[in-house]
Amino acid sequence: MFQYRIRGGNRLLGELKIGGAKNAALPILAAACLNESETIIENCPRISDILDTIEILNRVGCETEFEGNTLKVRADRKLNCEIPAEIAEKMRSSVLFMGAFLARCGRAILPAPGGCNLGARAIDLHIKGLIAMGAKIHEENGKIFCETDGLTGAKIKLSFASVGATENLMLAAVRARGETIIENAAREPEIIDLSDFLKKIGADIRGAGTGTIVIRGKKSLSKPVLHKVIFDRIVAGTHLVAAAMTGGEICLKNVRPFDLMPVAGCLKEMGCFLRSEGGDIYLRAPERLRALPRIVTRVHPGFPTDMQAQFVAALAIAEGKSEVVETVFENRCSHVGELRKMGANIRLTADKRTFLISGAASLRGATVAAHDLRCGAALILAALAADGESIVQNARFVERGYSGIENDLYSLGADISLENTPVRDII
Ligand code: EPZ
Repeated sequence: MFQYRIRGGNRLLGELKIGGAKNAALPILAAACLNESETIIENCPRISDILDTIEILNRVGCETEFEGNTLKVRADRKLNCEIPAEIAEKMRSSVLFMGAFLARCGRAILPAPGGCNLGARAIDLHIKGLIAMGAKIHEENGKIFCETDGLTGAKIKLSFASVGATENLMLAAVRARGETIIENAAREPEIIDLSDFLKKIGADIRGAGTGTIVIRGKKSLSKPVLHKVIFDRIVAGTHLVAAAMTGGEICLKNVRPFDLMPVAGCLKEMGCFLRSEGGDIYLRAPERLRALPRIVTRVHPGFPTDMQAQFVAALAIAEGKSEVVETVFENRCSHVGELRKMGANIRLTADKRTFLISGAASLRGATVAAHDLRCGAALILAALAADGESIVQNARFVERGYSGIENDLYSLGADISLENTPVRDII
């Protein structure tokens, strides 16, 4: 098992370049299956979710080559559109191949996505939309079987602005007959990046980033494409919070400050000084952070749910009382129990969606365990600010979304190392 060993108390100081976004790269890798010419993806993060997705591409018949942060994909041969269960079960984003395979091969077989720590993570909206486009879908023995003798454009109104469902329907619609209109579509920057990629391979898409996306399907998509993935706004936000919690002063490079606005706004309210210039954002922390009366997570452009755990950690040492409400996931609270082991004063309401936080003067180092990606990130942040030494177990969860976070934080002055221990992962 790998774990982080952290001694708290160091201020984070210096500069850090932010890499490509996991949540943009993953749907773009699924979209690469639709391109029958060569795809070159730059700024692709080297994280385990990406490596697992590349393994899916290889297993279905694509040729891939991943050097540094540049990934080459060739998908010009006939593909076997069945996603290997042992890989798909590791990450929910493999469900995005459903739309791409139906569009490319007219069929898709994948394991029914298990729930995860964040809750049921249903895919009913994905399935409802694909059926509206002419897919036949049924579940048998824990697998989902999809087939179509040709997708047809449809008008689909999502009951919730689901990121994954929006992406899946975009991937299906770009090769469907006729026009597809997705209403109440997700508006995240990663949706726009996927749309930009699909346009480069010849798709006809309008409206990405708004609530209504209009797609006119094409018979085939085949253009040599070079696409640079946008920066990871959640990784950037995580490092801003790390600096804020340690009284630090950092400058992040290669970002788009506009995409960081909800997070930057909250950090300003907590007493941080922030300034952005071109592709850089600079933060100087106060002596002690101020509490925030209330943060509510929302779909974009609201406060991102993927930053909720990190802010709960920051508010746990802020001066005063704060309230955080999680409206996107029904069970994104595994960090609360672990933060309490470090002395955090956090009460969770019965519905597990509202966190009532009384800021402590400091946290104490402890041995804690990550239960999911952003929980792990939050525990690392808390350990950086805590008195004494902490161990954050189950580093594998963090490595799903952060490429070498220990190296990045070490370069900013943190006392952190990643170590292997003979102990099995804590479930
Ligand atoms: C994407 O997940 C991201 N993952 C998540 O990031 C992110 O938290 C989430 O969007 C919200 O922004 C990737 O992009 C790979 P949703 P996704 O569909 O697509 C319910 C991280 O930490 N729902 O917007 O799964 C669902 O149960 C990860 O980087 C249905 O009920 O998110 C959840 O409660 C975590 N039925 C809510 O909607 C459906 O068919 C949000 O789901 C689909 C979703």
